[in-house]
Amino acid sequence: MIPSGGLPNAKSSSTADSSVLQISGGHRLQGHVKISGAKNSALVIMAGALLCSGECRLRNVPLLADVTRIGQVLSALGVRLKQTGDILEIDARVIKTSKAPYELVTQLRASFFAIGPILARLGVAQMPLPGGCAIGARPVDLHVRGLQAMGAEVQIEHGVCNAYVPGSSRRLKGAKIYLDIASVGATETLMMAATLADGETIIENAAREPEVVDLANFCIAMGAKIYGAGTSTITIVGVPQLHSTEYTIIPDRIEAGTFLVAAAITRSELILSPVVPEHLTPIIAKLQDIGVPIIEEAPNCLRTLSAETLRASDIETLPHPGFPTDMQAPFMALLALAEGDSVINESVFENRLRHASELNRLGADIRVKGNVAFVRGVPMLSGAPVLGTDLRASAALVLAGLAAEGKTIVQGLQHLDRGYDRLDTKLQQLGARIQRIPLAQVNAEVASNPTVEELPTSGATNRENVQSQ
Ligand code: EPU
Repeated sequence: MIPSGGLPNAKSSSTADSSVLQISGGHRLQGHVKISGAKNSALVIMAGALLCSGECRLRNVPLLADVTRIGQVLSALGVRLKQTGDILEIDARVIKTSKAPYELVTQLRASFFAIGPILARLGVAQMPLPGGCAIGARPVDLHVRGLQAMGAEVQIEHGVCNAYVPGSSRRLKGAKIYLDIASVGATETLMMAATLADGETIIENAAREPEVVDLANFCIAMGAKIYGAGTSTITIVGVPQLHSTEYTIIPDRIEAGTFLVAAAITRSELILSPVVPEHLTPIIAKLQDIGVPIIEEAPNCLRTLSAETLRASDIETLPHPGFPTDMQAPFMALLALAEGDSVINESVFENRLRHASELNRLGADIRVKGNVAFVRGVPMLSGAPVLGTDLRASAALVLAGLAAEGKTIVQGLQHLDRGYDRLDTKLQQLGARIQRIPLAQVNAEVASNPTVEELPTSGATNRENVQSQ
């Protein structure tokens, strides 16, 4: 069992901080890529294991810094964890404290979602507010209002959300909750809380993302009664307790989408598995519209063929089953090389277009006005040093670097490593010329050769937004 040090193996953020990716672009990729378990399922399912008065065994857990971090949050609550490869055992029979540590929760937004299970199990929870992050303010008002509707008293003081359930039973009560926004996190927090509440909870305008369904299936495997996950009305009938289970996390649709774009942007053929093609419908449809042929080889396997021409296409990000905001940055990199003008409207988060200016450093022609990016396709990109400002922005820059002529250096790997399971290693295996090298090595090259461009100095952008997605 692992003590509060968390899980081993995922790259530590200090290593990621001091390394960069050096990409020599313009080369085709080839081969098969294995898609890892879904980050946004794994994180919330790990929090969901707090509901269980027994042991849970999770399979297909991706190797990510964010998984390590949420493991640290669980350890700090007294939960025992053991990781062997992609299997993670979580023993939450005893939860020693209801107070989640500030230093950890503020680094990882998803850990706030644990307020639902902690409150449901213990009747009391103390959770620091996660704060904003690189892509927007990201309030948690819907989580809080939903818990209040279920009978919790909630006070926010000194940046901490203190919640408790009055009454001798300390059990939350089922309620009818309408979410103003179909928030993924709020749906998950409230669904988890409701599994152990007295009576029936109905969540209306619930998020329909596959990760919400995955969490519901995990809870059902522990004995929860949840109906309608994947639709906009979820009904949960509370049960007295949940039991041990084994559960396999779904493949990561955003990682799969990122590799589909990697193939498209380098005009390559790739095979991806395992995937759930229905989870990728909006991504596949958009790629086909852009001119990228994609074939379903088997029920869990996709083959993408080399595109003759990349065509411009407009995108509006929307809750599932609309086009996912997490794929917006990678598609911006692709559309930067398409023929014609594309308009990208980011309607989920208010500050998620910061990669546009970094793509412009690589020769893209993108103008941003408010939450809309106007992308004028260019025939080629050329390598340059760039800085990833959030997880998906960093991925977009790697993709652009794969297509750009010459050398691209991507900084900001602490973001990338939070959400992609060894992206650089997987790309290397497909033939990409991509290497993780110490930042010091690049700086030494710059110092010794004045013709080498210096790395972007917007270090503040990099460091001020270290909170995870
Ligand atoms: N919102 C509120 N109040 C709330 C909750 C959300 O106003 O109480 C707003 C947000 O500010 C945002 C919108 O609602 O403008 C949608 O946010 P949502 O709650 O759906 O997002 P989330 O649960 O915080 C998850 C993923 C994100 C993904 C979004 C949307 C996890 C850990 N994170 O965030 O993943 O972009 O859903 O699909 O599940 C990523 O992986 O790169 C990432 C950012």
